[in-house]
Amino acid sequence: MNRKVTVVGGAGNVGATVARAIAQKELADVVVVDIADTKAAGVALDIYESCPIEGSASRVVGVGTKDFAESANSDVVVITSGMPRKPGMSRDDLLNVNYKIMQDVTAEIVKHSPNCIIVPVANPLDAMSQAVYRLSKFPRERVIGMAGVLDSARMSTFIAMELNVSVENVTSFVLGGHGDTMVPLPRFSTVAGIPITELMSAERIKAICERTANGGAEITKLVGTSAWYAPGAAAALMVEAILKDQKKIMPCSVFLQGEYGLNNLFVGVPVKLGAKGVEQIIQITLTPDEQAALNKSAGAVKELVDVIGV
Ligand code: 2OP
Repeated sequence: MNRKVTVVGGAGNVGATVARAIAQKELADVVVVDIADTKAAGVALDIYESCPIEGSASRVVGVGTKDFAESANSDVVVITSGMPRKPGMSRDDLLNVNYKIMQDVTAEIVKHSPNCIIVPVANPLDAMSQAVYRLSKFPRERVIGMAGVLDSARMSTFIAMELNVSVENVTSFVLGGHGDTMVPLPRFSTVAGIPITELMSAERIKAICERTANGGAEITKLVGTSAWYAPGAAAALMVEAILKDQKKIMPCSVFLQGEYGLNNLFVGVPVKLGAKGVEQIIQITLTPDEQAALNKSAGAVKELVDVIGV
């Protein structure tokens, strides 16, 4: 195929899910890069062997990080490397160890694919995205953190469960950092175009917002490690919007320079995703309460980026 996507950390749960989704959707050829080199080769081969069954012409190869050159001239690079959470850990507990990993992989990505778009997925998401942005020196349009697509998918699932409607009817909106302070926005969350504020009690909405903010921890507690199916599907959806130049609006973590009153910080906001990456940051007017919640969430991200100095 004439498009190429590299998934760094692709032998892990999230990475393999992203790689598989991209191959299944026949979006591009896929390179799985992982420090676990034989596992990368095996995961890639297994995904490639699924392509005849799925009816996809994508080619999939897997290599160790010493063979990063295999990823050369990728259109998009998804970074899923990094330590996952264990039960009881917050995403912030991963800060220093994953920052070191971002330093190593970003250098390789820039060297081999200087024109790519990078989609960081590692936690703590917003701080790692900011690290990759600073380390890569790419324009802000080409570093786009995956978080809001996942968080809003979780919220949509909980709304669909609550109202016993199809998830396809539900659109949810979550702003802010990918952490406990994320900001679900009920008045912009709809079922068949109807705001959920018309469909359920304030008490039930509050419970859904809280469950959304704790969505990652809920899975981690149940499974014993971080989630991978929904995070992987979310990253693949972003890659699809970029490669197909769909101009879809999705909540993503991007470097804000004055938008929403926030400066020089990666925070989740609605953006238009297309071939150039972030093609527009959509600004909406928030109520004072919503803005205060967003500011608080941004403050939590700022604390982390200050620790690693990015
Ligand atoms: C989550 O929320 C892994 O941060 C990711 O599940």
